[in-house]
This record gives sequence, C-alpha cells and structure tokens, in this order.
Amino acid sequence: MRIYLTGASGFVGSNLAHVFSHEHDAEVVAPAHEHVELTDELLVRRSVLATRPDAIVHAAIWNDPAGLRSDLRRAWAAYVGATRNVIAAANALDAHFVLISTDWVFDGTQGPASESEPPNPINTYGFLKACSELLVAETAGYGTVARVAGVQGVHRARARAPRAQDAGFGYLVLSLVDALRAGERFAVWDSPGINLLATPTLATDAARLVWRALQREVTGILHCCGGEHADRVGLARRAIEVFELDPNLLDVVAAPLEAIPDGGVPRDTRLDARATARALDVELPDLTAMLGRLKAEVESSWCPA
Ligand SMILES: NC(=O)c1ccc[n+]([C@@H]2O[C@H](COP(=O)([O-])OP(=O)(O)OC[C@H]3O[C@@H](n4cnc5c(N)ncnc54)[C@H](OP(=O)(O)O)[C@@H]3O)[C@@H](O)[C@H]2O)c1
Repeated sequence: MRIYLTGASGFVGSNLAHVFSHEHDAEVVAPAHEHVELTDELLVRRSVLATRPDAIVHAAIWNDPAGLRSDLRRAWAAYVGATRNVIAAANALDAHFVLISTDWVFDGTQGPASESEPPNPINTYGFLKACSELLVAETAGYGTVARVAGVQGVHRARARAPRAQDAGFGYLVLSLVDALRAGERFAVWDSPGINLLATPTLATDAARLVWRALQREVTGILHCCGGEHADRVGLARRAIEVFELDPNLLDVVAAPLEAIPDGGVPRDTRLDARATARALDVELPDLTAMLGRLKAEVESSWCPA
C-alpha cells in the first residue's frame, strides 16, 4: 500500500510513518513542509497526483495555540483550508482519506465521549479540528476521522522532542520519566483550568489502529486511543510503577497560572472507544500494557540526552 502522509516530521506523524513502513512494509510518501505547503491547493494536488497513493493520512497541523488565537485567518487556512485541499486530492484518486483528530473536539463535560457524541469544542484548536472533521464527513469519498488522545511516545523525527508538561496530556509520561531517571523531582499538575482526565494513547498504538482502518477500509469516526482512562496523577503513578522509578520523587501541585491557556481547555476528555474496537476487531490496551510498550520503545530508541 502506498500512503501519502502529511506532518511526518511531527510527533504523531513520525510514529505513523514508523509503523506504516517498519511494521507493515507500506510505501510512505511524506513530503516535508518546505516542499509542500498544504495551504496551497495547486501544490497539494500536483504532489498527490504525482505519487498516486492508495491512501492519504493527514496529520499536519500548525501547532501553536497562541498563534491560532491571534491569527485566525492563518489558522483557518492551516487547518480547514489544508484539510480541504488534501481531501480534494484524495477524492481525485478515489483514495481513502484519514484525518488525524483529537479528543479536544469535546467540551470537557462529555467524557467518556463515544464516536457518535456531537463535538462541542471550547477553544480555537478544538473548533478548527471539529470543522476539519466536518469536512471529512461531508466531502471525502472514503473518509475516516481518527481521533487520538493524550498521546505518549517517542518522537521519531527529532533527537530532542519537546518534553515538557503542558495543559494537555501529551508528553506527560516522558517528561516525568526524564526527570525521575535523572534523580530530579517531578511535579504533576492537578488543578482546574487544564485537561485533568483523558484516555492516554501510545502514538505507535494509534498508528496501528489507523493502519487497521486503512486495511479494512473502515470509514467514519474512530477513537484511536488506549483502553483505560486516567487522571494526570493516576497516569504519573502508573508510569512510575511500570518504569520502576522512585515514587518519592513525585509531587502533586497546582498548575502554574502561565500554563493555563487563555482560551480554556476541556477538563475531562475521556473517550469511549468501544465502537472503534468493534469496527477494527481489536482489544484496546490498559494503561499498564501501554506504558510497558512505551518503556520498551524508550529503551530501544535512539534518544540522545
Ligand atoms: N500531540 C498530541 O498529544 C496530540 C493529541 C491529540 C491529537 N493530536 C493530533 O495529531 C496530529 C499531529 O500532532 P503533533 O502533535 O504530532 O504535531 P507536531 O509535532 O507539531 O507536527 C506537526 C506537523 O505538521 C507539519 N506542518 C505544519 N503546518 C504545515 C503546513 N501548512 N503544510 C505542511 N506541513 C505542515 C509540521 O512540519 P514543520 O514542523 O516542518 O512545520 C509537522 O510535520 C494533529 O492532527 C493533532 O491534532 C496530537
């Protein structure tokens, strides 16, 4: 299978590329941002038609929460415009289109939100992703929305990944592991104004679910996440157990004010993924299994300090 992948130099995209090409021998065509600007309709069409993929997986985003709020025109083009351009190119080839989306399309009171729960985003990022999802539903010939959530994993395109705790769950485990392995203390945030509950997902597990959707030609909305919900403190404690770290180095503190985004963040974004598990005929992993695989990835990956 030939897959055209956008955002392959990013965190999620690099894990998609890794799973598609190393575990499944797919041919991955992944032009860099500097070569294909996704907001340029003609460029996207030319690039996709020249490579004639069987499927397109669109993982690229303009990842700048403050920028999204201050330059909505650019944000709209980067999310909705780019998604429209990539869907049009997929449709021209009758190719399967997969949008990588997020649990932040929900408002933080809907958890555990099922695949059929209506999105109700509360910030600009969630709004732009929900609009992009709607484009898939309304315009893609063969379209799948693959929501990922609280993504943990190794960045496979960058030696130094942005490993710092933020208002979401992304990178939380590796931030903690890096600190505790260095003998430093780690303070996990637990207070209002941030994402407190989610369904953490290993990036490679999400990629495996996307691969399965491509192979089985499953369309519609999928929750490509783990099988166990967690709050931030619970995830931190379980990671300490699985990575065999010193629990005495963990503190629980309120999030610093500067870490709370102006636009607001959904509090509880747990995803109910039972329909996805049925559609893909898989059992989703519990936290311990997921963290065990993350540990193996960290220990086997090229990850200079
Ligand atoms: N990380 C998480 O915890 C998380 C959670 C839920 C959902 N997601 C979803 O996962 C997807 C990927 O997120 P991520 O965290 O992996 O992002 P990321 O690491 O910031 O990567 C973004 C990628 O998009 C590319 N890109 C940005 N604007 C582009 C444009 N206009 N044209 C072409 N390429 C462009 C970037 O290339 P350059 O760097 O060269 O600009 C980079 O490869 C998104 O759909 C996001 O909504 C992520």
